[in-house]
Amino acid sequence: MGASAAIFLAGCKAGGDYQGTEYAPNMYHSVAYESLSQITDQDAGWYFNALDARSGEFYNSNPYNPYKMNLRQPPKHVVKRETHGWLPYRGANDTTGLRLANRLVNPFEATPAILDRGKVLYETYCKHCHGAKGGGDGKVAQGVKIDDVEHSSYPGVANLRGDAYKKITEGHIFHVITYGKGLMGAHGSQVSEEDRWKIAKYVKELQKN
Ligand code: HEC
Repeated sequence: MGASAAIFLAGCKAGGDYQGTEYAPNMYHSVAYESLSQITDQDAGWYFNALDARSGEFYNSNPYNPYKMNLRQPPKHVVKRETHGWLPYRGANDTTGLRLANRLVNPFEATPAILDRGKVLYETYCKHCHGAKGGGDGKVAQGVKIDDVEHSSYPGVANLRGDAYKKITEGHIFHVITYGKGLMGAHGSQVSEEDRWKIAKYVKELQKN
């Protein structure tokens, strides 16, 4: 009696990399199709023998879909939406697009939370050129001095606090972040639409002070 209990309990050992012996794995390994994994080898995991399917435990492919894919390709012309269900920004990357961008309305209010987030994003993506306060005096704009020789690495960075820029709309800023302008590169692929709006809010805030 004592010996059988000891053997029984020894089987319960698990820890570190050893997960222990599984009893009835079908109970906890999902047999549903998992969209992001696709194992076409019918024998994979045969040692767990999935009785009903007559294939290994890990076999996980949908035989009814093309190429036995679990996740089907979306139909043609499907458009990915942003986090908020927004459609991607489709303003054209030209002067007309820039002009029309003035009509866009920032979906966010200037709440402390939005401005805080805008500040973090601005400091990540813009500050090195435009400066902490938007004065156009970031480290990249100022250039560096090596062996007494000035290297101006990025000329003409806009002073966003200057009178010429004080009146630009948030839509204009959003558009410029998306596509860049002149010597400024595009940031649309790095910064999500949502974050671009938050940066625009923060730039407006910088311009006030
Ligand atoms: C590599 C340096 C650099 C970075 C990074 C950068 N900018 Fe610029 N930005 C410039 C330069 C240079 C100009 C002037 C463009 C021109 O008129 O040729 C400019 C111009 C602008 C303008 C004025 C556009 C206009 O209508 O004339 C805005 C607004 C602006 N940047 C916002 C931003 C924001 C917001 C970020 C961060 C997401 C950012 N920039 C990141 C260099 C940069």
